[in-house]
Amino acid sequence: MVGRLTGKRVFITGAAQGIGLAIAEAFVGEAAAVFLIDRDGALLSVVADKLCAKGAVVGHMQADITDAKVIDAAVLRAKSEIGPINALVNNAGVNVFAEPLATSDAEWDRCFDINLKGAWNCSKAVLPGLIAQGGGVILNIASTHAFTIIPHTFPYPLAKHALLGMTKSLGLEYAPDNVRVNALAPGYVATQKVIDYWNSFPDPEAAKAETMKLHPGGRIATPQEIAMAAVFMISDECPFMNATCLTVDGGLSVQQHPA
Ligand SMILES: NC(=O)c1ccc[n+]([C@@H]2O[C@H](COP(=O)([O-])OP(=O)(O)OC[C@H]3O[C@@H](n4cnc5c(N)ncnc54)[C@H](O)[C@@H]3O)[C@@H](O)[C@H]2O)c1
Repeated sequence: MVGRLTGKRVFITGAAQGIGLAIAEAFVGEAAAVFLIDRDGALLSVVADKLCAKGAVVGHMQADITDAKVIDAAVLRAKSEIGPINALVNNAGVNVFAEPLATSDAEWDRCFDINLKGAWNCSKAVLPGLIAQGGGVILNIASTHAFTIIPHTFPYPLAKHALLGMTKSLGLEYAPDNVRVNALAPGYVATQKVIDYWNSFPDPEAAKAETMKLHPGGRIATPQEIAMAAVFMISDECPFMNATCLTVDGGLSVQQHPA
């Protein structure tokens, strides 16, 4: 299995923890060179040092994906440190959950700035290079929220629906340039973000048990299980997969209701 991403130079956002970190670890395990960014620079340094110590080709930079100028600079730095980027994983994202009428303008802006515009900033920064190199891959980490709605999680699902729209749009626009743009839609994944979500309930343990019960297999995904799918989607093993979405949710989103 080793070497499935040989020759890939991947820009990964939100790589300091959770799904982004698992993706970075899986990618270097398959011989990719990676350039990691996260707004948490201290945590990112620790993570990057650990990967370097294992012999991986890793660059990193503290960067906020909402700042297009900083992202342009990060892509340039990536080029000088690991070579021209030929793949992008738009992973950084945040939960912004509210009842619609209780959503402030600031929450709306934060949700769309990070979960949608951030992914566009990074796509815009790497696309000219992908086209110039004769092709490449963009993978957007969406969610089952990209096609289903959980009440009181407004406006997060709106941003994920739009991210899926951007996936289809860019996938069509740049198919003639041999650029594939796809989305990966996890259900619940065991990361800090989900622990924070459980902790937002009066009884976090009950909320956790309820989440597990929602899943046909009685459990949620590990970040590594999402990373395995990301390896496949960035690799050359699916050259005709474009402008689509792969759901990795243990069957959560296709059931009418739990048994
Ligand atoms: N955990 C889940 O259950 C789940 C399910 C479906 C989809 N997702 C999606 O997967 C992605 C990763 O989620 P996670 O659970 O690993 O989250 P996480 O909170 O564990 O990690 C996210 C990382 O992104 C970074 N980040 C956040 N905003 C940033 C910004 N503006 N600029 C740069 N870095 C930023 C954070 O510092 C953090 O290190 C998100 O897009 C999320 O919406 C998560």
